[in-house]
Amino acid sequence: MHRPDAPKAPKGIILAGGLGTRLRPLTKVTNKHLLPVYDKPMIYYPLETLCSAGIVEIMIVTGGNSAGEFLRLLGNGAEFGLRDIYYTYQEGEGGIADALRLCEHFAEGGPIVVVLGDNILQENIAPYVAKFREQGGGARILLKEVEDASRFGVPAFDGERIAAIEEKPAQPKSSYAVTGVYFYDARVFEYIRALSPSARGEFEITDVNNRYLQEGKLCYDVMKGWWSDAGTFESLFRANQLVAQERKRRS
Ligand code: DAU
Repeated sequence: MHRPDAPKAPKGIILAGGLGTRLRPLTKVTNKHLLPVYDKPMIYYPLETLCSAGIVEIMIVTGGNSAGEFLRLLGNGAEFGLRDIYYTYQEGEGGIADALRLCEHFAEGGPIVVVLGDNILQENIAPYVAKFREQGGGARILLKEVEDASRFGVPAFDGERIAAIEEKPAQPKSSYAVTGVYFYDARVFEYIRALSPSARGEFEITDVNNRYLQEGKLCYDVMKGWWSDAGTFESLFRANQLVAQERKRRS
């Protein structure tokens, strides 16, 4: 039975804007998230990540080249068991937090699960969604141990506690990456409004996460399964290999 006072189920957001310049010339005429990762276009993976966790209201932020092709490819999401998909368009590439800013009206003051469009995960995030719902507000991030931490947002630990997160540090203070799966309450949009662009001219999601940290409202889990981004030639190649191995394992 529906209870009017029941906490809202989180809505899902996929950030698939930006120009994918690190993958040129692959992205010269098309959008990074339409490129293949083994047997499917990249955008399928974050969509499956959200759908398999039971999230049914999803918005995709796109931008740059070939933005209209997302609609042609995904339509209303019937292939994913969805009734419809919401789309919006980011002008330029102002950063991850700038893309997320476009989703405030979609979130309608409720909690959100954000997945970066180039993040590919082995595991089902349903248990993390459940933990986020139990924590009652604030934010939650997922970490994964990596060999090349300096490419990512990297937490510095004080015991078990995250003391700070640094974006692409030359000398990482841990071997963990902050993956592109983020859980936020509605305050995220207030924190984004207060941001200034970073040295590279982007509105950084790491600054948003650090703000939650300062407020004592940032929780984390360490992901168990494999994880890869796919925004560089090496990581795109690795993502292809991981998915190919997974298909083989399951067949
Ligand atoms: O993959 C995890 C990493 O993603 C995190 O560890 C970093 O803290 C975070 O900043 C991000 O780093 P990247 O440098 O890999 O982000 P990138 O610019 O490749 O953007 C990742 C996705 O975010 C991209 O596939 C689409 C979306 N995006 C990005 C930008 C810059 C947008 O929607 N709009 C944008 O303007």
